Formats: sequence, C-alpha cells, structure tokens
Amino acid sequence: MIFRQLFDSVSSTYSYLLASRQGGEALIIDPVLDKVERYLQLLRELDLKLIKALDTHVHADHITGLGALRDRTRCITVMGEQSKVDVVSVRVADGDRIEIEGLGLTAMHTPGHTDDSYCFVMEDRVFTGDTLLIRGTGRTDFQNGDALAQYDSLFNKLLKLPDDTLVYPAHDYKGDTVSTIGEERAHNPRLQAASPAEYVEIMNNLKLANPKMMDVAVPANLRVGLRQDEIEARGWSLDCSEAQRLLGSPEAVLVDLRDQAERRRHGEIPGSVHTPYGELADNLGPGGLLHELVAATGKRLVFYCAYGERSAMAVQMAQEAGLHESCHIKGGLDAWKHSGGALTQLAG
Ligand SMILES: [Fe+2]
Repeated sequence: MIFRQLFDSVSSTYSYLLASRQGGEALIIDPVLDKVERYLQLLRELDLKLIKALDTHVHADHITGLGALRDRTRCITVMGEQSKVDVVSVRVADGDRIEIEGLGLTAMHTPGHTDDSYCFVMEDRVFTGDTLLIRGTGRTDFQNGDALAQYDSLFNKLLKLPDDTLVYPAHDYKGDTVSTIGEERAHNPRLQAASPAEYVEIMNNLKLANPKMMDVAVPANLRVGLRQDEIEARGWSLDCSEAQRLLGSPEAVLVDLRDQAERRRHGEIPGSVHTPYGELADNLGPGGLLHELVAATGKRLVFYCAYGERSAMAVQMAQEAGLHESCHIKGGLDAWKHSGGALTQLAG
C-alpha cells in the first residue's frame, strides 16, 4: 500500500494520500488548496490516478483542495450528507463504503466538532478529522458544533474501535503524527472526563479565539461545487422538464454514472443504462460501449448522476471523444426527484 501523510505548515493540516499500488488508483483525504500543485506532482511521480478526494468536514482554518483537484483531475469529490457545501459528487452516510482499486474506507458519522464531521475507517487505521486529535479533540463552539454530540461520537463510536487502531488526525500543532485508540483512551486529557456533563463543561470553557482563516475559509469551503452553468452556457445541459420529455424517446439514451450502492439507495430513472463514472473513459473510446452505441444508433447520450457534477465532467469527456450531441441533466437525480421525475427502485 502507498500511504503518505502530507503536512501543510500554515494551517498544521495533515492530508493523506492512499493507493493500493504504484500505477493504480488513488484517494486523498482533507487536501489543502495551497498544496494542490504538490499533490499533483506526487501523483505524477508515483504514477497514480486520483479517483476520489474527500473532506472529513467543512474546514474553518484552510481552504479545501477538493474543487481544484476535481477540476484538474476530474476526480470524484466526497463529503457527508449533512454537509452544507453547494455541491460535491457523492454524499455519504454513516456506514457507507468509499472504494478505489484495492482499498476501501468505511464512513463513520461523528458529529460534534461540526454537524457534518466524519471519520473514515480503513482496516488498521482511522482518519479522525478534527473529531479526535492526538491528546486533544476538535473544538465544538462554532459550525453547529455540539460538545454532547462529540462525547457520544468519541465514547460510543471511535473508542469502540480496537485499541491498536492507528489514529491519523486532520491536524497536529505539536509535531505528533500518529497515535492509537488505546493510547488516546489512556492519555488524552479530554477522554478522562468522567461523564458527558463533565466533557461538555470542559469543551464549553475552552475560550479559544476563532481561527485566523475562518471568515475566508468557511464561505470558500461551502462553494466547492463544479460550475455547472459553464456547461449550460455551451448548450450541454438539460433541465428536468426537458429531460422528462426525452424519457422513452428513441433519440436519446439516459446514462447513469453513479455507483451501484447509490443506485440501490436512491433508485434510477426508468430505462437508464448504467456506466459507472470510473469506467467512463473506456466506454467513450473506440470499441467502448457508449461509443459503439452512438455509432450504431445515432442516439444522444444524456448523462446523469447524483447532483450533476460527475455528469458535467462526463459531458466534457464525451465532447472531447467526439460525441458532440452529449448532454447532462443539470442538478442530477437530486433535481430530478425534486421535480417529481419518475424513479424505478432496483431489485435487491
Ligand atoms: Fe475543523
């Protein structure tokens, strides 16, 4: 496995680059905007293809690299379903799996530092965001923080992991890089609280100044979505009512880009073809399923996904592959649902 702990000294943020092998797919956790060029260089040097970029929560102390990495690599952006960000490609809930080639993380919703805080568990280690720090815990006094919720997340979720689980936090201000669940249980001063009330008392009396970057970082981090209006300006978008009229039409084929787990949870638009976003490049090239379908039938490809982000990138890829009639449903299945569009539940 390739595992890199990367540090931003301005905000004392740790970001994590993971891959199962050189030459394979990669995932990054909590990337920092100012470090994006460094990440891209490292990806090139290790011959890795960035597939997914995730944030553990909306950060207040640095601007996320999620949007820039998506724009540079066409990777999928991932955050929790509670997050107030305008758009990410995929929103996960407690227990969801986030997979790339050879690696899988399990999302654990751990509200408290913020209401959208997640930890990500991978075999022997857990990426704890700002929920659990080395000998500390993330503050709970802004961004819908809640000390009581954090107590529950810590004691009833994170500390239930095996003692030897490695703890990789989103920050460290003292130079520590890694700990374990057992070590934190024994030596983290905040985890010595005898009751939820005592923990709340500690957290509500920290009297911390707001992070320097907060007024800049939070608004910026809430606007990470891909600018779908640029795709629209090129005439490559359909709104839901336009897409409704194409349902069952011999001229168009709806292409669902979501993963199977998302399809099972939310259903699909009737009559869709399923081509996961990660396999799109192969499908659009000569000999690929979608390429041959268009060549044989002259049909127009209408891509959709959860929120319109993957489908907007898919349209660009299809246009580049010479499939000039391709378009996407603006706002994705989320907008489709809100417009009352028909859905079919998947069997099983
Ligand atoms: Fe934070």
